[in-house]
Amino acid sequence: DADGFDTDVLVIGTGPFGIATALALATYGIRVRTVTRWNWVANGPRAHITNQRTLEVLRDLGVEQEALKHATPWELMGDTLFASSLTGDEIARLRTWGTGDERHGDYVLGSPCPLADIPQPYMEPVLVAAAAERGCVFDFNTEYCGLDQDDDGVTVHLANALDGRIYDLRARYVVGADGARSQVVADLDLPIEGTIARAGTLYTRFRADLSRHVEHRPSILHWFMRPGASFGEIGMGLLRAIRPWDDWIAGWGYDMADGDPDTDPERVTAKIRELIGDPDQDIEIVSCAPWYVNQANVTQWSKGRVFCGGDAVHRHPPSSGLGSNTSIQDGHNLAWKLAYVVRGWARPELLETYNDERRPVGEQIVARANKSRVDYAPLNECFRTEGEADPIAAGLAKLRDPSPAGVEVRAALTEALELKNHEFNAQGVELNQRYTSTAVVPDPDAAPEEWPRDPELYLQATTRPGAKVPHTWLVDARGRRTSTLDVTGHGRFSLLTGFAGQAWVAAVRKLDLPFLDAVVVGAKGTEDPYRGWDRLREVHEAGAVLVRPDGFVAWRHLDAQWDDDDAQRALEDALHQVLGIK
Ligand code: FDA
Repeated sequence: DADGFDTDVLVIGTGPFGIATALALATYGIRVRTVTRWNWVANGPRAHITNQRTLEVLRDLGVEQEALKHATPWELMGDTLFASSLTGDEIARLRTWGTGDERHGDYVLGSPCPLADIPQPYMEPVLVAAAAERGCVFDFNTEYCGLDQDDDGVTVHLANALDGRIYDLRARYVVGADGARSQVVADLDLPIEGTIARAGTLYTRFRADLSRHVEHRPSILHWFMRPGASFGEIGMGLLRAIRPWDDWIAGWGYDMADGDPDTDPERVTAKIRELIGDPDQDIEIVSCAPWYVNQANVTQWSKGRVFCGGDAVHRHPPSSGLGSNTSIQDGHNLAWKLAYVVRGWARPELLETYNDERRPVGEQIVARANKSRVDYAPLNECFRTEGEADPIAAGLAKLRDPSPAGVEVRAALTEALELKNHEFNAQGVELNQRYTSTAVVPDPDAAPEEWPRDPELYLQATTRPGAKVPHTWLVDARGRRTSTLDVTGHGRFSLLTGFAGQAWVAAVRKLDLPFLDAVVVGAKGTEDPYRGWDRLREVHEAGAVLVRPDGFVAWRHLDAQWDDDDAQRALEDALHQVLGIK
């Protein structure tokens, strides 16, 4: 190209992080090119729980409805069993992912989006198609081999996996999205803390019609206490639906000290039949492979012009379902910053805030996902009696014991299930991120935020700078409900103000920036007849909330502002602090 660059941004990897970053950049009109080693996207089900925040990101990028077409819907997700087998005795059920009566309202109130189950091989093509449609160039069968960077850009060395041709591409910025075995992280020599492969799990995908066992208590996840599938922290075997109800994964922990897991098809089939509790069940094995429990963080996510995210920088087990969700959200955080710097709307220092904002989120989810495994210990204590010839049979007998000892175990079971809400009903973990960086201007003399309810379980909606803008339903010009998230974002800054905020409207008009809009809640098109914003905004009606392109609050003005010039000065100062330019 005339400017000497093949692309503005080169993304290495088409997993959830890479493809979300590429899609957002393409949506914002930035030249982006994406390379990946394989000829297509994920070939196995891998991640599947798609939380509300991720669907909010997809909604912002205009692909929520397309992604939901491929989903197992929310109402089929969460009547999770703990049982001796799928056909055997039920010990407990937990309503998971906000499907339970006591939590569902919190979830519906907190977001315009549902939760959904979208396995990776269904999600990734939706994102690839939208990115390609919006101008992202894809190089499949292309292996990343190394990079060199200088003051102006990055030269990336690539090999075509089909004909062996070696070539270079030059980009202003590079995104390292090459997953848990990241070569980009290794080449940049980024520091990693923690443990890799501290436990092993075998996952087998199989086809079997299990409708008759699950239709009346639908869930995409069930747990079973079986002697043959009781090794490890979780201590239970799992059945996970990929498609209701004939496409499944069976999983169990294995002892890594004994070497590779036993993948003999006959023995694997027998174990799956045990989990189902039907020795005659027809089963067709599709694939069988181990994965490893990691607990590791990269403590610096970028170097120079190269930015890493996703599994490359946070490596953890699937418990809590945070892997691909966090990866997609990393991409949404990074993409607008790259876009603004490439366009000259922000100074390059803005890019450092990606590391400052997302690294703590990465650390939190690595800890959370690993703790979710450890938190099975109290349940396991209820399900087994160690020292007996058959600890599980003895444990399950104890749970059926009418004596005071049985009463005690059943009380312990109720409590142990409560703890699992931190894995399975953790709306706070999913939506309560708080960013601290130079791209967030705190309230003057702000006291630390108080958390009256458990921050992992409950969403705390607030317009405090660094939090996600609260969702509430407004009403558009045609009388249809539209979220506060729909009238902000989309690659732009939005200044939310009330009907009395005319000084802010004048300030936005005067500044006349290509990326800034005023949104007057209460005006035609953004009316607030439910008075939701009125209750949530925490600022005066003539105050203002500046929302970043990723939906996070950059700054707010708490009090009324009636003067156009003062409003303009305050807004200019805030934008200057965030973007570094006047
Ligand atoms: P991801 O690994 O998805 O993508 C990496 C990309 O980089 C790929 O496109 C690859 O081709 C490319 N690449 C790698 N090296 C390259 C090179 N040298 N050159 C070019 N391209 C290269 N999570 C969850 O939340 N719930 C779950 O149930 C599960 N289950 C699960 C099961 C199994 C078996 C695995 C392996 C993983 C999970 N996960 C999961 C984790 C989840 O899949 C993971 O968090 C995301 O895929 C991470 O997305 P990334 O984009 O970071 O990497």
